[in-house]
Amino acid sequence: MSTARGEFSSRFGFLMAATGSAVGLGNIWGFPTNAASNGGAAFLFTYVILAFVMAYPAFMAELIIGRYSKSNAVTALRGLATSPGAARVGAGVGFAGMITVTLILSFYAIISGWMLAYMFAAMTDIARLESASTWLTQSGTTRDAVFAGIFYLLTIYIVVAGVKNGIEKWSSRLMPSLYLILIILIVYVLTLDGAMEGLRMYLVPDFSRVADPQLILSAMGQAFFSLSLGVGTMLIYGSYVSKKENLPAIGGMVTVLDMSVALLAGLLILPAMSVAQLNGIQIYDEQGALIAGPALITSVLPALFDQMGDGGILVALAFFALMSIAALTSSISMLEVPVAYFVEDRGVSRRKAVIVLGAVAASVSMVIIWNFGLMFDWVVRLTTEFSQPLLGFFFAIFAGWVWNRNALLTEIKQGYPEAESGLFWRIWPWYIKFVCPLIILAVYIQLII
Ligand code: PHE
Repeated sequence: MSTARGEFSSRFGFLMAATGSAVGLGNIWGFPTNAASNGGAAFLFTYVILAFVMAYPAFMAELIIGRYSKSNAVTALRGLATSPGAARVGAGVGFAGMITVTLILSFYAIISGWMLAYMFAAMTDIARLESASTWLTQSGTTRDAVFAGIFYLLTIYIVVAGVKNGIEKWSSRLMPSLYLILIILIVYVLTLDGAMEGLRMYLVPDFSRVADPQLILSAMGQAFFSLSLGVGTMLIYGSYVSKKENLPAIGGMVTVLDMSVALLAGLLILPAMSVAQLNGIQIYDEQGALIAGPALITSVLPALFDQMGDGGILVALAFFALMSIAALTSSISMLEVPVAYFVEDRGVSRRKAVIVLGAVAASVSMVIIWNFGLMFDWVVRLTTEFSQPLLGFFFAIFAGWVWNRNALLTEIKQGYPEAESGLFWRIWPWYIKFVCPLIILAVYIQLII
């Protein structure tokens, strides 16, 4: 079986694919707006700390388990267990991850569809097709369904082509473009009047908020979501990494790259919002809270681009292309999770698995689109605030308590022979055993209190 498995062809390919999964709407939209609503730099500070002390170790657990077992999460966790009970829990966690990630894909595709629609709207603006632009930017179930559908087709197209010729190839093309577009946009926005106010909002901390449980919960959810944790995505990407690679090092690079996009996105979104405010666009709602939900991307920023005249159309095109790229390199990693399971464990062909599972997720999206007010927020919160950290907890327990320590070290030593004397091995096992599970639990308990 192992010869038929996909593998990333180079370190660069893995870095782009894993960073592509990690960098998504969570970084460019979620992080900056979370920061703005939670005390600016106080959030940034908490987030950076949590990313290193919790998300990175949890991420490493998935990567190491994945490369060791060279399989999907269900088989991998089941295989680590030494008792039938633990094996059942492991398989259950794997399945729960698969369901969670499919639900994440189902809401993610809806938002991504909006990004595509707005990108097309910039093109129809250039062609002066006004009525088309109006349809594309007006919320409606038909538009949402059509563009979520297009987004699924793109995702399916890439995943069908496999690990090397689909996921790796497209991530390696799209991720460098993403960085480039992001930097150009930041430079441009920072030259506009009013941008500095947004920068201040982002970078001047309100430290009275650091101990706020809501802030810590948001930062933890954000860190988990951003590194695609708990649902088996990084485990399956880890399973495609060659035994020659130094895992702690490449995992660290992905963490830093992911964080850098989030921090950079803050330099774009918050200044853009304050520029919008200076131009008379409303950025706070009636309750005085910052408009951070869908309205930010679908009304505040487009209103700003509109005011910029013809040049604004190009800015809009670049911005929504950026969002669409970020979304696509993440959605392919979501679909790969159940696909890998059905291909490896159930003997389904890749093509069939991708199409059927893509169709299943798309159907869930359609149900959400037609019951948007009722379901959307609920699905987002259930998956990202509840499921992901909880599943991350179990991954930590499996890596720290269930898995045999020698086997773990042997795995890390592949590609990193001097591991035993390194800093990683001195700190990480302890972290994954005690610190990660305890932080996750503490945050939950704090939430209940
Ligand atoms: N990390 C992605 C983002 O920041 C989302 C994601 C979650 C991707 C879970 C895969 C799995 O947008």
